Amino acid sequence: MRLFNIKRTIWAALAFGIMLSLGSVAPASAQQQAPADEAALLLQLKGGPVTGRVSIPDAKSGVLIQPQGRDWRQTLEGPVKSAGGWLLVLTVVALAAFLAIRGRIKIEHGMSGRTIERFKGIERFAHWLTAICFVILGLSGLNISFGRSLLLPVMGPEAFTGLTAFGKLAHNFLSFPFVLGVLLMAVLWIRHNIFNAIDMEWFRQGGGLLQKGVHPPAGKFNGGQKIIFWLVVLGAAALAVSGYMLMFPFYVTDIAGMQLAQLVHAIAGILMVAVILAHIYIGSIGMEGAFDAMGSGQVDVNWAREHHSLWVKDVTARGAGDD
Ligand code: HEM
Repeated sequence: MRLFNIKRTIWAALAFGIMLSLGSVAPASAQQQAPADEAALLLQLKGGPVTGRVSIPDAKSGVLIQPQGRDWRQTLEGPVKSAGGWLLVLTVVALAAFLAIRGRIKIEHGMSGRTIERFKGIERFAHWLTAICFVILGLSGLNISFGRSLLLPVMGPEAFTGLTAFGKLAHNFLSFPFVLGVLLMAVLWIRHNIFNAIDMEWFRQGGGLLQKGVHPPAGKFNGGQKIIFWLVVLGAAALAVSGYMLMFPFYVTDIAGMQLAQLVHAIAGILMVAVILAHIYIGSIGMEGAFDAMGSGQVDVNWAREHHSLWVKDVTARGAGDD
């Protein structure tokens, strides 16, 4: 491998010299700091990536020092992880506060005892395929980001290593059925998720979530659910593109592209976990009668009339059982 030209050799020698001299005079604590300081000094002197020429057909292996790597790591370890961590904590606190203040959203007219089909088997299959994969992907992804600081001290190195190695495998392989599930949901539901004037009225009334007894009209999906749908579809697309770039490194991009993909993946992942936490809340403990829609596929008629009045009219006009 032919490496550096004369100028670069001088830089390298200079850096090496600085390293040696710092190493020989610095006290023990400063010696631990030394490599970072020297790299900073070298970058300051050079002001850009330190590269050389390599004879193998892989240009990126000629990059010795890449300053963006430092920015990338700082952005990830600083703003992304701290803001992301706080976002997730605040989401859980906000949902708990909402439950405490607003209480569970009840079926105002009580259960009628009659049901109507809300989702067919194929729709529930697509939903639960996506949901089960997402929960495992989300937990294993959060472990990659926060596990070292949160779990390692509690579990110890052996258990943490086992969990993380298994989590990484699960994270890679479950990405495929997850993408399949989202694609299936997109195909099945896209026509019900186009925004219209009815949604604007639904938003104007706060979806009826804030006040008891308010039930703005909605079709199969209301404005809030349409937002969830599009966040899931677009979020999954961002996660899939960036994730497959990470899974198959350097096929379509260079080092800077890999760093960008990693940031996009981390940010989109954390945002989506926050969104889905809210979704899980409203689809389970937050609203009486909602879970049945994805559980048995049958919902109480009174629930349906209160939350999806236009959809009920539409289904009954066309004969029950149609979507
Ligand atoms: C794991 C716990 C989950 C529960 C309990 C849950 C519950 C539900 C329920 C009850 C519905 C139907 C709402 C209705 O009838 O109007 C629904 C719809 C939906 N779910 Fe989930 N879900 C979960 C996870 C997920 C995940 C992880 C995703 C995607 C990553 C997801 C995406 C969707 C979408 C796009 C819809 C249609 C739009 C909407 O209702 O917001 N769900 N879910």
